[in-house]
Amino acid sequence: MEFSIKQGSSEKLKSGCVVVGVFEGGKLSAAAQAIDKAAKHALSDLIAQGDMSGKTASTLLLHKLPGVAAERVLLVGLGKADELNNKTSLDIIDATFKALNATPAKDAALYITDEGVGKDAVWVLKQAALSAAEHAFRADGLKSKPAEPATLKHITFATLDKPAAALKNVLEQTAAVTRGMALTKTLANLPGNICTPTYLAAQALALGKAHKNIKTTVLEEKDMQKLGMGSFLSVTRGSEQPAKLITLEYNGADKKQKPVVLVGKGITFDTGGISLKPGADMDEMKYDMCGAASVLGTMQAIAEMGLKLNVVGVIPTCENMPSGKATKPGDIVTSMSGQTIEILNTDAEGRLILCDALTYSSKFNPDTVIDIATLTGACVIALGHVASGLFSNEDKLAQELIAAGEQTHDRVWQMPLWEDYQPLLDSNFADMANIGGRAGGTITAACFLARFTKDYRWAHLDIAGTAWKSGKDKGATGRPVPLLTQYLINRANK
Ligand code: BES
Ligand code: MN
Ligand code: ZN
Repeated sequence: MEFSIKQGSSEKLKSGCVVVGVFEGGKLSAAAQAIDKAAKHALSDLIAQGDMSGKTASTLLLHKLPGVAAERVLLVGLGKADELNNKTSLDIIDATFKALNATPAKDAALYITDEGVGKDAVWVLKQAALSAAEHAFRADGLKSKPAEPATLKHITFATLDKPAAALKNVLEQTAAVTRGMALTKTLANLPGNICTPTYLAAQALALGKAHKNIKTTVLEEKDMQKLGMGSFLSVTRGSEQPAKLITLEYNGADKKQKPVVLVGKGITFDTGGISLKPGADMDEMKYDMCGAASVLGTMQAIAEMGLKLNVVGVIPTCENMPSGKATKPGDIVTSMSGQTIEILNTDAEGRLILCDALTYSSKFNPDTVIDIATLTGACVIALGHVASGLFSNEDKLAQELIAAGEQTHDRVWQMPLWEDYQPLLDSNFADMANIGGRAGGTITAACFLARFTKDYRWAHLDIAGTAWKSGKDKGATGRPVPLLTQYLINRANK
């Protein structure tokens, strides 16, 4: 999908389809008015006859209007002007691309940033570009006969007045975000028999090849052994696939600038191990590497942007499998930090690989560390599929992430990291247990990680509810790539 910005009058702009808004009650947006005038009141007539209500997200497609240069005109209902909000805005954008993709138009010109579709032109532009890419994304690469790719290939954000200078930069960055998200989604959707730790490592090495400012390194199990990563290695024991510890170093600023480290959970399949999961929907545990995939997508996006910042991606990746060699409930392991862990449930494996990756991250002398993980089913119960869970040991960092989430509509909700929860991890035999019981399961998982992140500023994102969709629309969402890239863009701009 390609994007551009263009100033021009709506009736004269040549395109496969020009999109203009109509308010509920029949008031035309400025771009619609120009078309109405050129087409001898064709739009006003339609509205007067009740063919277009202007109700939020309603659409009407018109062909070859006289006096209009575009082959088609898509009218989109904007609802009542004073009732527009982020949600109706997104509904309007979604309806627009559904309707556009039902036409054979190869390109479209959207008059939506200057009037009507939202309060904030930058926000609307970002969401429209993300929606266009989402509608064009295909997940059928493993079908013997994949569907045709989308015909709609080029979106022009058209404006009547001179577009704000900032829009162009925002659009270029958002285009990079859509490509990063596509990488994240493609990797996440791959099944566990293809997307193994070795496969993820190969993808990371390929990213390093494609971008000269990314350096990828892959550590093997013997290296992890030497580093004392007993916790990480305990998870991979039952698997025939070798575990990998991937690091990607993106150098966009002065070497001396401390990096932001992104740590992504990369369990390429989570059976639960000896604490085996029930069979229903277990296929979805191929998505247990979505944190890792979001790190790769984010690294690609910022490398394309050439962001002036140093960022390191750290990806601990392995399978969680049962076998004769697998770790058993009650086993005690020593983490790289020296702290010992009683593994009471082998299905709480994400924190076991993350804690060693977090300790390892200190070696980059980080300014900030953010881990991203499909960590707990409890997070899905708490926040559903709307917000990712956010924890941080510094409130300013939490606020920055919350703001970046709002800017991209890839939102997070902060949860407490209070000391009061820590005793739930007490163990009679080791420094801590790896589970804290059913109550507050998302919080105790974060509290576990907090024991390994005392040396730096840190945030944890639990993306269990937001990284993929289940049911008929099963598929990865590409979240939280928009959030992470926006946070990094904001930092680079500071
Ligand atoms: N990968 C899962 C978390 C998960 C489950 C994400 C379902 C999305 C949907 C994680 O490894 C896990 O199994 N967590 C356990 C922790 C429990 C044993 C303390 C869970 O959430 O049940
Ligand atoms: Mn698990
Ligand atoms: Zn897991």
